[in-house]
Amino acid sequence: MEAELVHSIVYRSTAIRPLLDGELLWLLNQARAENRRLGLTGMLLYRDGQFLQLLEGGLRELELIYGRIERDPRHVRVTLIRTDFGPRLFPNWTMGFKNLRDWRVNDSAIGVTDLMSVPFDASYFGENPGKALAILLCFRGLET
Ligand SMILES: Cc1cc2nc3c(=O)[nH]c(=O)nc-3n(C[C@H](O)[C@H](O)[C@H](O)COP(=O)(O)O)c2cc1C
Repeated sequence: MEAELVHSIVYRSTAIRPLLDGELLWLLNQARAENRRLGLTGMLLYRDGQFLQLLEGGLRELELIYGRIERDPRHVRVTLIRTDFGPRLFPNWTMGFKNLRDWRVNDSAIGVTDLMSVPFDASYFGENPGKALAILLCFRGLET
């Protein structure tokens, strides 16, 4: 069977203030329900008030949700880092999530230490879109 091809986007944003665990959980539950309905999957990382997210699926669904995300008052400086069309990268996650505060180097042997020392900001990721994707992919197998 041919691999399913989907559109994907990676963006980063800044939370308007540090979010509590309960607020992140609420956001995630909301996102997962909607993504399941629309056939979207992906991964959301949160580090010190910064988000990095990959969303993938049909172009129309992606545009709809990214439009909502851009207008979401919980964050600002929503910046698109890369777009792509290819095999689905997170088929098992309506939205994987990792709060990097809880992440420990010895949680894994995948060598993400150097990746995690990069700044989580728009100018860095803008110039290094591949790094943003590499960081997201590091957590593909670790979601809990
Ligand atoms: C960082 C972040 C990531 C989000 N990710 C998703 C997502 O993957 N899917 C989704 O449906 N909503 C996501 N949302 C929520 C949307 O921004 C929005 O609140 C939701 O789609 C409901 O939109 P509405 O209030 O305009 O109906 C995210 C919000 C934030 C702040």
